Amino acid sequence: VRAEKDGFDTFMLKEIHEQPRAYRDTMRGRISEAKQDVFLPGVKLAPEQIRGLKQVQMVACGTAYHAALIGKTVIEQLTRLPVEVDLASEYRYRMPIVREHTLVIAVSQSGETADTLAAMREAKQAGARVLAITNVIGSSVAREADDVLFTMAGPEIAVASTKAYTSQLIAFYLLGLHMAQAKRTLDPVLQAELLAMLERLPAQAEDVLGQAASVRQVADIITKHEHLFFIGRGLDYSLAMEASLKLKEISYIHSEAYAAGELKHGSLALIEEGTPVIALATQDRLLEKTISNIKEVKARGAYVIALALEGNTEMAKTADHVIYVPRTFSLLVPAVAVIPLQLLAYYTAVLRGNDVDKPRNLAKSVTVE
Ligand code: G6P
Repeated sequence: VRAEKDGFDTFMLKEIHEQPRAYRDTMRGRISEAKQDVFLPGVKLAPEQIRGLKQVQMVACGTAYHAALIGKTVIEQLTRLPVEVDLASEYRYRMPIVREHTLVIAVSQSGETADTLAAMREAKQAGARVLAITNVIGSSVAREADDVLFTMAGPEIAVASTKAYTSQLIAFYLLGLHMAQAKRTLDPVLQAELLAMLERLPAQAEDVLGQAASVRQVADIITKHEHLFFIGRGLDYSLAMEASLKLKEISYIHSEAYAAGELKHGSLALIEEGTPVIALATQDRLLEKTISNIKEVKARGAYVIALALEGNTEMAKTADHVIYVPRTFSLLVPAVAVIPLQLLAYYTAVLRGNDVDKPRNLAKSVTVE
């Protein structure tokens, strides 16, 4: 069994370590030599159809939903198209407005999630064009969509998704750049820089995997607690949701992801002496604001673990513990910043003696609505 796990104790740890490979495979053959074009053969939307789009809607569940939240910012910033994101189980029941020229993106690792399939069928019936981002060739989602962008994560066995999530982020970067190219919303120089930075992500992910020891120290601290918070703004808020889900799924510690600026409107009441707050602060533009939120919780006794970009000396003075992640374009940061958060959930669950690969009550793929 250990052989199947490439020498790792669990499938989850193996899959966390496979991420640099998964990033490379998801990019392979899709970026031109001159860093000007993104080729997505399964995406049949013609450039004029991309230019004609009026809106994008995304549907997904669980971790794929969290990838879609990042995808929303990526697509909006690169193409200036308005994007809405729905939980697939909610989409149908809110009577979504599907006008002409609506692109619906269904995100699903397995391609078999019942809620996601139902949402995409509803969208298709209403006249939307449906694009699938999925990891499984021949899956129902892949077969029923008009366009498909496969993630090349390889089979994911652990129930808690890791490499599928990050491969979905890579897919969104490629799709965003592909659409921006058709819409001419990006300066070619910036486009080339972004593609070059995208290609550096696998090596940066390898660096982050090398810092597991620092994450283990944080696991030792949080394992003694029964509830904690993740806070962040913008992309860090979307990342906080994924970090919180990961921790809940396998460690069974209750955690909440909060938009850092919203804490003061209620949840701040739950902060007591020693409450762990994991503050994600990887977005330079929002740094100052997040730092003031960190001070706000520290003043109430919180123990703050920050996730910050390398070279952020300010954070070392503000937080109790800092985990550093490498610098890249702000849009790309989540693909490296999530790795320590996956490791944190992992080590905490191991310390608690839980079955990491098969958490209680959960299934890898949910085929009932
Ligand atoms: C289940 C899994 C999650 C996953 C979700 C969506 O709940 O436990 O890890 O994110 O389904 O799965 P999908 O295959 O559609 O991405």
